[in-house]
Amino acid sequence: MQSKSTRPRSDALVFFGAAGDLAYKKIFPALQAMACRGMLNFPVIGVARSGLDVHGLLERARASVTEYGGLDPAGFAVLASRLRCVSGDYGDSTTFEKLKAELGSARCPIHYLAIPPSLFANMVGQLQRSGCAQDARVILEKPFGRDLESARELNRVLREVFPEEHIFRIDHYLGKEAVQNILYFRFANAFLEPILNRHYVENVQITMAEDFGIKGRGKFYDETGIIRDVIQNHLLQVVSYLAMEPPSSTYAEAIRDEQAKVLRTVRPMDNDNMVRGQFRGYRNEPGVAQESFMGTYAALRLWVDSWRWEGVPFFVRAGKSLAKTVTEVTIQFKQPPQVVFSEATPAIGNYVRFRLSPVVAIALGARAKRPGEGMSGLPVELSIVDGGQAGMPRPMDAYERLLGDAMAGDTTLFARQDVVDAAWAIVDPVIHGPSAIYEYEPGTWGPVEADRLVADVGGWKNPV
Ligand code: BG6
Repeated sequence: MQSKSTRPRSDALVFFGAAGDLAYKKIFPALQAMACRGMLNFPVIGVARSGLDVHGLLERARASVTEYGGLDPAGFAVLASRLRCVSGDYGDSTTFEKLKAELGSARCPIHYLAIPPSLFANMVGQLQRSGCAQDARVILEKPFGRDLESARELNRVLREVFPEEHIFRIDHYLGKEAVQNILYFRFANAFLEPILNRHYVENVQITMAEDFGIKGRGKFYDETGIIRDVIQNHLLQVVSYLAMEPPSSTYAEAIRDEQAKVLRTVRPMDNDNMVRGQFRGYRNEPGVAQESFMGTYAALRLWVDSWRWEGVPFFVRAGKSLAKTVTEVTIQFKQPPQVVFSEATPAIGNYVRFRLSPVVAIALGARAKRPGEGMSGLPVELSIVDGGQAGMPRPMDAYERLLGDAMAGDTTLFARQDVVDAAWAIVDPVIHGPSAIYEYEPGTWGPVEADRLVADVGGWKNPV
């Protein structure tokens, strides 16, 4: 994203966990894509615990890009020429001495911690003691803690070594083209902003549905659950983009300031405003406790206590093993008075729909006269962006965008600590305490008990 950042570019990328899953699925493909655009003009140092050497790392990189997106011979050749490898135990200071030597004259390296969060504290200490943290930046992945308290503790550890503007917390949703389009569409057009408030909006619904289960991640999932996995981060970031006040382009932190401001006005959750579910069969997954009460589905009714949004419910739901894989936002407008055409209140009125995945789409829902006698109408949808159409350019992958921004020192699309804290503060009251959990059939839209949350607004808008 373009910002007013005047920060220097990083001149070396170090990624820990080079033999791991994240590197394999996301980092190598993103690096090859950067190489294809001529943007990979810095050394890339993979650090692995597994005794890998540069040839082994290269083979892994080749397998990774082949499996995820396809090998581009020219791009891969550039990546191969940039790639270095350091291997050794993360607890051993000689690993970091080797890294320091490999960094050579780099003045502003960036360290990507593609490793489990339990290793962060040790890693940060080693980077500092070895001198590798000097003028360096750090990238880390969610989860940023398990709750508000542990998020603050993690931050304390990071901040002992890195200033906030050198910390790049990846929430890959912020790197998605479609999520950026929420901001762009809202503030690059004049027609929407005047009606995006409590006078015109009846409710906002955000659905993140996945038609697959937990994909063998039983242990992780049973410690995490849907609220920590995708709601506290991805979906609350989306809420912040939908609900925030217009940021000014006059200074670099404006967007994140507005995100923090609006999330602080969201009322902390309670059980009356939440329904949790678990898909049938979850407890038989490897790594999951037989008596697990972890949610694989949650629906929340959020209240944004601001001048703009007072009284407008934001419904947020997410689930595994649902009817389809789709993430969509619908902003539903109030019905016009029916005094002119005396129609029975139609089920579908005016709305703006943002489809965030699997394809990017923006559409406006309206009513038009049904052709023929009489004055009755039918719902129509005006498509503004349709990423599903043939010939549409492929959107840039979130990791490619985020890595590029991090190298450029642009923090806009990364989660700032106060934003992370504000999001934890919303869900904290319901992730610790006991709450009911309802079983649902895989392949459905979740437990019917969740319908009570939307009973006053005509039900859930299931994406079609
Ligand atoms: C991850 C979650 O952060 O996001 C996964 O851990 C989830 O459980 C994934 O499936 C969804 O991301 P995307 O980009 O595939 O929609």
